Amino acid sequence: MANRRRVIAGNWKMFKTVSEAEDYAIKFLEEVKDVTDLDVVLCAPFTALHALKNELEESIVHLGAQNMAWGEEGAYTGEISGRMLLDVACTYVILGHSERREMFGETDQDIAKKVQQALAVGLTPIFCCGENLKLREEGKAAEWVKNQVDSALSGISKDDLKRIIVAYEPIWAIGTGKTASSNDAQEMCANIRGTLTELMGPASENVPILYGGSVKAENIGELMQEPDVDGALVGGASLDPLSFGKLIKNASPM
Ligand code: PGA
Repeated sequence: MANRRRVIAGNWKMFKTVSEAEDYAIKFLEEVKDVTDLDVVLCAPFTALHALKNELEESIVHLGAQNMAWGEEGAYTGEISGRMLLDVACTYVILGHSERREMFGETDQDIAKKVQQALAVGLTPIFCCGENLKLREEGKAAEWVKNQVDSALSGISKDDLKRIIVAYEPIWAIGTGKTASSNDAQEMCANIRGTLTELMGPASENVPILYGGSVKAENIGELMQEPDVDGALVGGASLDPLSFGKLIKNASPM
């Protein structure tokens, strides 16, 4: 039987200044101090990471970024490298989020290079994939997501692949209040595991696959009961420390 880590990651997107992040961290730590059976990650804006490193040190909460450069270092104005993220105690990085693909023109090739670079420096990528409404309505969602997974991950060694997390985030469910049904989430997460099995063999059983898209304290329990849903990537509902704390407690059966 698979013995997968379960992960709840918050994606703050472009919200919170340094002082807002510090204030959040103090309240949030109080909420999650007794959580032991889940990995909790906060993916914050770059500017808040250093302050959060100080607040979250020695706590159960891990730190993540929301993007990084595919280059190691060099003349890349405005970019942030993986090594810079490690320096502020990040251990995770979201890559290939649909907002970066759609609004900032990131291609499958860019994302593949970023995943490779994150793994090379020792970060855990939270690789995002997911279809839009049109593709879902046309019955092309599974094929689309398979292609996204293949193109980002097929160049990576089997050993490195064991260190990734995949987040299935249907675009039509992000920020819309419309969650995928737990059956739909399960079906696609199982498909993704099938694709990972083709790439890396039975080790795919150990890769955490998260669902993302309008996850809230009220629906996390049902989603977590699905056998291939190992956690969630949470946007809007991670912005308030008390309600995100409640969501985490609802995700954990203890
Ligand atoms: P949402 O965002 O929870 O606000 O739908 C999820 C995400 O974009 O990761």
